[in-house]
Amino acid sequence: MNQQQIIRQTEEYVKKTLSGECTGHDWFHVERVRKIALCIGKQENADLFVIELAALLHDIADHKFHGGDTSIGAKKAQEFLESQGVSKEIIQNIYYIVENISFKGGISKLMITPEGKIVQDADRLDALGAIGIGRTFAYGGHKGRELYNPAFTSHTSLAHFDEKLLKLKNIMNTGTGKKLAEERHNYVLKFKQRFLKEWEGEI
Ligand code: NI
Repeated sequence: MNQQQIIRQTEEYVKKTLSGECTGHDWFHVERVRKIALCIGKQENADLFVIELAALLHDIADHKFHGGDTSIGAKKAQEFLESQGVSKEIIQNIYYIVENISFKGGISKLMITPEGKIVQDADRLDALGAIGIGRTFAYGGHKGRELYNPAFTSHTSLAHFDEKLLKLKNIMNTGTGKKLAEERHNYVLKFKQRFLKEWEGEI
């Protein structure tokens, strides 16, 4: 199989696996991360085949059932890539990326390879900007959280802005990622300021 065929097979596999996913890690999220990652990859001269595969497979673990066990997704990705005849070296790279990409409890592991750094940046960029805001409120609703409550500094959707979204700009890996994060970060900040103004009933 050539690289194009492997990409196509991977796309089908991921689409099938993620259908019905509603916690913000759905197929459309994966597709956005793939596009952003490829765009950064071109700027940074990285291996676009590895980037595309890793982006497609980065959320392959079903978050609803597997909780915090990130090696389940990595193993699933490994098995799939082996079935496609992908080289051992590439599989190892992607295994590490899938296992360590997520932001869990405020800490995400350092990425080692350029492709890992790029896919992680793309995943973080999709948590910022207008999409990031939308995902935050959708996820909050899914978890039964309030939009906002002035009495709480956590467990509301707006509190998640400070807990996660507004920290992302400072942990971007690549120069291109940093540049892209800046604009999305400022958009989130502006949204938050306006939200709080409207919360007070200001017109
Ligand atoms: Ni993701």
